[in-house]
Amino acid sequence: MKILYNNDDLNEALKKGPIYGFVPTMGSLHKGHISLIKRSKKECKNTLVSIFVNPNQFNNKKDFIRYPRNIKKDLSILKKLKINFLYLPNKSDIYNSRRRTKIRLSKKNQIMCAKFRKGHFEGVIDVMNRLSALIKPRKIYMGEKDLQQLHLVKAYIEKKYRTKIISCKTVRDKTGMALSSRNSLLNKMNLSIAKNLTKNLFFFKKKLRGKKNIKDLINQKKIELNRLYGVKIEYLEFRNIKTLKITTKINNSNIFIAYYLNKIRLIDNL
Ligand code: PAJ
Repeated sequence: MKILYNNDDLNEALKKGPIYGFVPTMGSLHKGHISLIKRSKKECKNTLVSIFVNPNQFNNKKDFIRYPRNIKKDLSILKKLKINFLYLPNKSDIYNSRRRTKIRLSKKNQIMCAKFRKGHFEGVIDVMNRLSALIKPRKIYMGEKDLQQLHLVKAYIEKKYRTKIISCKTVRDKTGMALSSRNSLLNKMNLSIAKNLTKNLFFFKKKLRGKKNIKDLINQKKIELNRLYGVKIEYLEFRNIKTLKITTKINNSNIFIAYYLNKIRLIDNL
């Protein structure tokens, strides 16, 4: 594994040939990230993983400071996976390299996390644009855990570059809870609440089959989850996974949730 500490290192590596598979991350790697990396390794001639905690996608400074960082553990995971390149840029490598292109979300995209985390996706698309321009990968591997992010990045990047976004299934623990770097910020009690809440939602989704009043049932569930687990729910919505439009049809649809446990914000779609 060659570590690229800056853009000079990256450009040196690119002189020898293109990057085929790229897995962008913010580090604190877990089995979700690992599944993306393994898929890239399987499908691509070489794989580059980046770790960059992008300050511009945090709409809250405290959240950025609190975001888990664990570079020692990440290095040992990536060495074992035998990836070709690890790119560890500084803020200046990303933000000095190109003029800022103004990213604007259209009105129809101002839903779910875009509505509640103002500026977040603009920051994500901007950094993905910059990373794509620097690395010029053939394929980028991204997780369905962050399905709204995946849709927005795919639409932007595939229009502008000859890069394909490959969508990868959400990895869950044995209780069904989606793996996330932020899970490490939860204490034991909150972790167990999150697991129970996820189980509750999986059971609820099964029961939605054949029901006509899905909208009402979702609204009732929101109140129930708040009462049962004491969580603050930002949104709980039933949406089509291809269009992200609100729906009452069961096929190709998921329950999308964002909620706070203590001060930690968790999202999932299932
Ligand atoms: P991060 O949260 O580190 O996630 C990196 C990639 O891993 C994303 O594509 C995300 O969807 C995927 N991922 C996270 N948890 C997963 C899980 N349980 N199963 C499958 N895939 C999972 O998302 C970001 O970083 C950033 O916004 C980034 C795209 C790197 C831009 O800064």
